[in-house]
Amino acid sequence: MPFLENGLVVGHTRVSEDIYELEFITPRIASECHPGQFVHIRPSLSSYHPLLRRPLSLYDVDKRLGSITVLYKVVGKGTHLLTRVRTKDYVDVMGPLGRGFTLPGTHKNVLLVGGGVGIAPLVYLARVLREEKCKVQVLHGTENQKQMVAFDKLRQIGVEFMPATADGSAGFKGLVTDLLYKKIDPAEIDFIYACGPEPMMELVAAFADQHGIPGEVSLEEHMACGVGACLGCARKLKAEDEEYVKVCKDGPVFSMDKVKLYKKINGR
Ligand SMILES: Cc1cc2nc3c(=O)[nH]c(=O)nc-3n(C[C@H](O)[C@H](O)[C@H](O)COP(=O)(O)OP(=O)(O)OC[C@H]3O[C@@H](n4cnc5c(N)ncnc54)[C@H](O)[C@@H]3O)c2cc1C
Ligand code: FES
Repeated sequence: MPFLENGLVVGHTRVSEDIYELEFITPRIASECHPGQFVHIRPSLSSYHPLLRRPLSLYDVDKRLGSITVLYKVVGKGTHLLTRVRTKDYVDVMGPLGRGFTLPGTHKNVLLVGGGVGIAPLVYLARVLREEKCKVQVLHGTENQKQMVAFDKLRQIGVEFMPATADGSAGFKGLVTDLLYKKIDPAEIDFIYACGPEPMMELVAAFADQHGIPGEVSLEEHMACGVGACLGCARKLKAEDEEYVKVCKDGPVFSMDKVKLYKKINGR
């Protein structure tokens, strides 16, 4: 069940040119969080413009402290307003929302593939998978080394981390999906999770399908209510499906084999 809480901001850091890490204390929400779920945040307590909350993934959760951390990229009005929040301010948070990732069981070999800020939900997932004694490999693709913002957290969590950058400033030079196809031995992977641009997730899902590996993706849709009441996030998972799903309530996480992912950005 989702809660509404005013979260005391305990950290807000610009971690790259247009990417911020925001940590707040919301004990009730934090106590119920599962990886892959999201919180719905009002960009400003003092203004009703924009009116709608903005969905952000659980980047990290500390249930003992009751804190949640989100990682967000500034793309428009709402995220720009959020950058003005200061430590000791409060943010209006609703959550946890949505259906998160399925955990594969203990001692599994798991691969996480993130593109850009799509790494966000995979970091908290990595933490929980490590608690489940899974061996976790993380591939993260970004434009350059400066955007490789999850590196320290992932190292502290104890995963095997492989970066890919478009400009070659860190790790593999090229797309994270090229890294996947060139360097990952499918025989060693029990489960794959992906989050990022749909063309990237489409190639990850094709890799999983080729090798018979089960997996899940986290989808992004524009959202309004965030709780399944407005149809703002409705989409067909496959063109031939009769029914629409509500990404906010039925997802955002879906099994890779249930979704037809778009090959091009804005290709819908
Ligand atoms: C379940 C879920 C989890 C998300 N987790 C994160 C996260 O952890 N970190 C992060 O940086 N972003 C995340 N997003 C995307 C984030 O919600 C949007 O970037 C944000 O709402 C944009 O708000 P804005 O007011 O700044 O931009 P707007 O002014 O509303 O829009 C600016 C641009 O961003 C596009 N956009 C806005 N909302 C979305 C959306 N939901 N999906 C795709 N494009 C959008 C618009 O089409 C427009 O081009 C998530 C989205 C969903 C649905
Ligand atoms: S955002 Fe309202 S139904 Fe999903």
